[in-house]
Amino acid sequence: MSSLPRIAVLASGRGSNLAALLAARKRGELPVEFVLVGSDKASAGALQLAKAAGIPTLVLDPRNYPDRRAFDLDLFARIEASGAEYLVLAGFMRILDGEALTPWVGRIINIHPSLLPKYRGLHTHRRALEAGDCEHGASVHFVTAELDGGPVIAQALLPIEPGDDELQLAERLLPLEHRLLPAVLRLLVERRLQWRDQAACLDGRPLEAPLRLDETGLRPAK
Ligand code: GRF
Repeated sequence: MSSLPRIAVLASGRGSNLAALLAARKRGELPVEFVLVGSDKASAGALQLAKAAGIPTLVLDPRNYPDRRAFDLDLFARIEASGAEYLVLAGFMRILDGEALTPWVGRIINIHPSLLPKYRGLHTHRRALEAGDCEHGASVHFVTAELDGGPVIAQALLPIEPGDDELQLAERLLPLEHRLLPAVLRLLVERRLQWRDQAACLDGRPLEAPLRLDETGLRPAK
């Protein structure tokens, strides 16, 4: 086992955020070892990406479990067994059981395509458009039992242009997500970012507002 921080990733879909993490590692910007990529969908593109990168994969089908709790307890037992120290949710489309994730709180982050606390849950691009927002974005937050409700660590902002539709917004947001997630994971594994007293702390101080992604990286919000 290498001495690098060990990361597990869960993803249900195509895996472009996983690809961004792998690319950041390859460029030397994310000194971690990926020990597991897990999914609840055998068809997830993320699994193919992981296999191509030589990362162990895991598929658990929720239909084989009596309830959510049983699924999540097995999932987390396997993540634990992989040796992972941190867990990244990169498009994992399931609500997690509070008891199963309790031992991991402070070590799990999720990327969500909205400026949380706005638009938890699904269809975030559509909801931002329907609300007439002039700004949209993505957030990375610590995961707690509350859906998309844990402390927000960092956000990438995206102006909404006149005439934008859901697809255009999603397409313009994705490249920002791909910079945001590796940048936050790096802060976490460097232990600059920590979970303390139910809050996100950076360099020992509670974050008063989420960090912002700009052209050069993450900055404190002005
Ligand atoms: C991303 O938009 C992410 O913010 C959301 O799910 C999507 C996953 O996309 N949680 P991908 O599978 O990483 O391409």
